[in-house]
Amino acid sequence: MKTKAAVVYEPGKPIEIEELDLDGPREGEVLIRYTHAGLCHSDVHVAHGDLEARLPMVLGHEGAGIIEEVGVGVTRVKVGDHVVCSFIPNCGVCRYCATGRQSICDMGATILEGYLPGERFPITGPRGQYGAMCMIGTFSQWGVISQTSVIKVDDDLPLEKAVLVGCGVPTGWGSAVNTANVAPGDTVAVFGVGGIGINAVQGARYAGAKNVIAIDPLENKREKAMELGATHAFATAEEAQEAITEMTRGQGADSAILTVGLMSADVVGAGFNAVGKGGVVVLTGLNKLMEPTIQLPGTILTLFRKSIKGSLFGDCNPTTDIPKLLGLYQSGDLKLDEIITRTYTLDEVNEGYDDLLAGKNVRGVMVHEH
Ligand SMILES: NC(=O)c1ccc[n+]([C@@H]2O[C@H](COP(=O)([O-])OP(=O)(O)OC[C@H]3O[C@@H](n4cnc5c(N)ncnc54)[C@H](O)[C@@H]3O)[C@@H](O)[C@H]2O)c1
Ligand SMILES: [Zn+2]
Ligand SMILES: [Zn+2]
Repeated sequence: MKTKAAVVYEPGKPIEIEELDLDGPREGEVLIRYTHAGLCHSDVHVAHGDLEARLPMVLGHEGAGIIEEVGVGVTRVKVGDHVVCSFIPNCGVCRYCATGRQSICDMGATILEGYLPGERFPITGPRGQYGAMCMIGTFSQWGVISQTSVIKVDDDLPLEKAVLVGCGVPTGWGSAVNTANVAPGDTVAVFGVGGIGINAVQGARYAGAKNVIAIDPLENKREKAMELGATHAFATAEEAQEAITEMTRGQGADSAILTVGLMSADVVGAGFNAVGKGGVVVLTGLNKLMEPTIQLPGTILTLFRKSIKGSLFGDCNPTTDIPKLLGLYQSGDLKLDEIITRTYTLDEVNEGYDDLLAGKNVRGVMVHEH
């Protein structure tokens, strides 16, 4: 069958909309009709070449849709199921899945090559085989993906909201709740309030943080953070540092969660300074694979027993955490409607990313047409 999709051919060039050929689902694969996709900054990293992916690649790794066909041996979902995609697959049996660390499942090894196990490329087109971002490629009307990338969700959930639980929500929420292990009474600083950071704010607050300090140069982001759980918001790290020192009587924050669009040594340094003894700095935002974004005085790290942790998918387990987070949405404890700034069609993908880079959106959502 044919599918219209947003493709990166060359880093730094605009994303192109192409009609491509899609093979049917083979063993363990499903055909999904994507209804919605979220515009996350990580796709920009691929489009700009910060994350060196195999090209051409169909972008999009935050997605939701409906299962239209299943290949042989598919047991996790059936035709008609509503699903949210996880940007990291979970095989369930590798060493990491088996020990409750699905976000580092071995199957995630090819998320930047974009093919399914066995170097299988269901999408082909004028330039041969096309990979799919995170093995899902949600900026496409349809996709053929592994059953390990989809999580069934309740039929009565609005997919246009649930889509955010494919990346932004678990990544941000989990960066606070799981990686930083925020506890009641904590002081937490969140650097960068985009689709990821706003959910770190929500997670930190829900976990009981007393002070949630949001740092973002953009006023619209700071306002949204204050609306959804931040207790303080500042435009610069310097202003935040002063306030944190004062509100903790010199002790410093318990954790700093770094969710800026492009990670830098400056931001990591600011996060490191913001936390006090025993404090945790969580690196969630990305940069080029080999960029040295950590340049810190190690002796201070030791003497103050600080720690630096990387967080992938918020250290969540998609099979249990995606339904759990949607339950919190249903109970009103997690806000999704409020964090969607604008919707786009597939054809408007470049405009969507211009808006993201201009800081207009907390999250933009693509609504697919079929
Ligand atoms: N680790 C993971 O699992 C994972 C998953 C998804 C996304 N990401 C990464 O997380 C990052 C954030 O993604 P997003 O979609 O929320 O991006 P976004 O562009 O929507 O938001 C980034 C925000 O950071 C702010 N910002 C930029 N520089 C800043 C600075 N120096 N100090 C404070 N704020 C600053 C921007 O104004 C913006 O509001 C990206 O690097 C993305 O690739 C990581
Ligand atoms: Zn993402
Ligand atoms: Zn696994």
